[in-house]
Amino acid sequence: MGCPGAGKGTQSAKLQDTFHLKHISTGDVLRAEIASGSDLGKRIAGIIDKGNLVPDELMISMLENIVKATDKGIIFDGFPRTVAQAEALDAMMKRLERSITAVIMIDLPESEVVNRIASRRQCGKCGAILHITPGTPANKCPVCGGELYTRPDDTPERVKHRLEVYHTDTLPVKTYYQRSGSYVEINGDQTPEKVFEDIVNVLKKVK
Ligand code: AP5
Ligand code: MG
Repeated sequence: MGCPGAGKGTQSAKLQDTFHLKHISTGDVLRAEIASGSDLGKRIAGIIDKGNLVPDELMISMLENIVKATDKGIIFDGFPRTVAQAEALDAMMKRLERSITAVIMIDLPESEVVNRIASRRQCGKCGAILHITPGTPANKCPVCGGELYTRPDDTPERVKHRLEVYHTDTLPVKTYYQRSGSYVEINGDQTPEKVFEDIVNVLKKVK
C-alpha cells in the first residue's frame, strides 16, 4: 500500500526479483487492458486517466483470473484500494486456500509526491520505472532500449486528484488491516535501497 508515488512499483520489482514472487500491479493490469485497444480498455482509460478508481467488481473479477494462474507467492501493488476490495481479497484468499503474509504501507509525505511523479518515466517494453533528472531528454530505457513514456494520469492536477481519492477511498483500508494485526508501516522517504532493507526486515519477522 501507499499513496501515488510512494514507491510501490519500485519496491515490488525489487521484491519480485529477490524472492521470486509474482508482482501484480493493478495499475499495470489496467494499463495493459487499455494498450490492448479492447472496448473494456477504452472504458477503463476514461476512468484512470482522470485519476478515478475503476469499479470494485470489475477490478476484482480481472484480478481473480491472474491470481488463479500462479502458485507463486504474490505481491499485490495498488490492491486492495477500497474496503470492499479488502473484503473481496479476504474471501478470494479463503476460496483459493491462500493467506495474506503482511500488509506493508510505504509512507511518504505528500509534499514529495508531485516532484517524484514529475520525474517518473516508465518503459513501454519492459515496464521499468525510472527517475529522470528534470529537464533532461530521456526517451530510451537504459535496461532494454524500449521507448519511455509519461503516464497520462501523471499531470500535477491528476496527481492532486489521485491523492484526494487515496484519502477518501484507500486510507480506510489502513484501518481495516490495522485491526487484523498484519499491518506494518515503512518510512518511504529514504533511499530506495533503505526502503527495501526495511521491507525485507519486516518480511523476515513475519515468515
Ligand atoms: P497505480 O498505477 O497503482 O498508481 P498509484 O497508486 O497512483 O501509484 P504510482 O504507480 O503512481 O506510484 P508508486 O507507488 O508505484 O511509485 P513508483 O515506484 O512508480 O494506479 C493507477 C490508477 O489505476 C489509479 O489511479 C486507478 O485509476 C487505477 N487503479 C489501480 N489499482 C486499482 C484498484 N485496485 N482499484 C481501482 N482502480 C485501480 O515511484 C514513483 C517515482 O518515484 C519513480 O520515478 C521512482 O523512480 C521514484 N522513487 C521510488 N522510490 C523512491 C525513493 N525511495 N526515493 C526517491 N525516488 C523514488
Ligand atoms: Mg505504481
